[in-house]
Amino acid sequence: MPKSKTENKSGLMEKIVSLCKRRGFVFPGSEIYGGLQGFYDFGPLGVEMKNNLKQLWWDWMTRKHEDIVGIDGAIITNPKVWEASGHLKSFVDPLVECKKCHHRFKADDISAECPDCGGNLTEPKVFNILVPTQLGVIEDEKTNAYLRGEACQTIYLDYKSVLDTTRLKIPFGICQIGKAFRNEVTPGNFLFRQREFEQWDLQWFCRPEEMEKWFKYWKNERMDWYKSIFTHPENLGFYEHEKLAHYAKKAFDIEYAASPIGNGKEMEGIHWRGDWDLSRHAEFSGQDLSYVDLETGEKFIPNIVETSGGVDRTFLFLLLDAYCEEKDRVVLKLYPKIAPYKVAVFPLLANKPELAKLARSIYDNLKINFITAWDDRGNIGKRYYAQDEIGTPFCVTVDFESLEDKKVTIRERDSMKQERIAIDELAEYIKKQLE
Ligand code: GAP
Repeated sequence: MPKSKTENKSGLMEKIVSLCKRRGFVFPGSEIYGGLQGFYDFGPLGVEMKNNLKQLWWDWMTRKHEDIVGIDGAIITNPKVWEASGHLKSFVDPLVECKKCHHRFKADDISAECPDCGGNLTEPKVFNILVPTQLGVIEDEKTNAYLRGEACQTIYLDYKSVLDTTRLKIPFGICQIGKAFRNEVTPGNFLFRQREFEQWDLQWFCRPEEMEKWFKYWKNERMDWYKSIFTHPENLGFYEHEKLAHYAKKAFDIEYAASPIGNGKEMEGIHWRGDWDLSRHAEFSGQDLSYVDLETGEKFIPNIVETSGGVDRTFLFLLLDAYCEEKDRVVLKLYPKIAPYKVAVFPLLANKPELAKLARSIYDNLKINFITAWDDRGNIGKRYYAQDEIGTPFCVTVDFESLEDKKVTIRERDSMKQERIAIDELAEYIKKQLE
């Protein structure tokens, strides 16, 4: 499909937030109660797009790489996990409070005075961002636990069980898509910094002496994958961290560079976790988490390369990157496999039963293979523009000629080019275009 650059980025975030709400991609969480900062719900189009995105990632991980398997771990784990992982001690943000208006900020984000009222700030205090919860039904016997602060921990806990139940040999990977929770001091910028969000992680287990090779390999593989789904791949870049998380010896971010929200554009982290996690879990659990090479008898703690990305951040950056204003239309030039609907079907006139009947039969047939929209309201031009705004790659119009020649008009989203196609070739044509 032809691609064109989004020229005007001014007010882009506001336009995306408004489009998401208006067209049913994303709604503010608990809105009828005034909302809850840092929480969002995905609407009918948002959930389709997010599912498409996750499916693409999952297929790429598990189908493209035969030495990667998936799991779906629990959100709440034994609380000792977070002691062993280092999060209870080190998953902290320095926080300052304004002495006048009592608003709180991440110390790293602001300078000498309160950005809201200009008041003086307190000295930074450390604040742990794990989200605590309590389990049990008897008041005095409740157990303190945590919602997972990073999804990947369950992969380390299950690594031995995965090895015992599969034929994997080192090097191998375990991947997972799942929710994580952080009591962020300053949630904001729409889906960018939330308190509940989704991560897609790969933990790649390898020999310590091969870490350099695999770190480089996954850094490039992941960048190539992101480039394959963005409208403007040239907007993606790497950033190397100097300040490292407690578990990482080396870390690069894959960033979206054209973001309208300034600094903080990280989409995925590629982390050199080494033997940190497995050694700590072995120590705290008292279990032997070594890998045994059955051919050589060697026994060692595998080292880990992690690729950990944000599903919601990718969703947001894809929308920002795909948004385009052209003359009298707004169009989301989304990669077709990610678009919520693949095709929309319209009868030219809604009040002509013979047109509606034929269009309906085409719709019923297409929806067996593609997520298909139906629209018979207003005029054709308006229907096209409504589909452009939600990124539908193809629109099919059934007109009076269709009743005679058994052909329909198919219109492509980005070029707006129209073609006549035989009805019985339509499904195959769309399938080919989507590949
Ligand atoms: N297991 C490693 C880990 O969690 P991270 O860099 O803290 O590393 C990985 O998080 C990814 O998760 C980030 O690159 C980002 O895309 C996403 N992410 C982190 N915090 C987020 C938040 N508060 N809201 C939305 N996405 C977030």
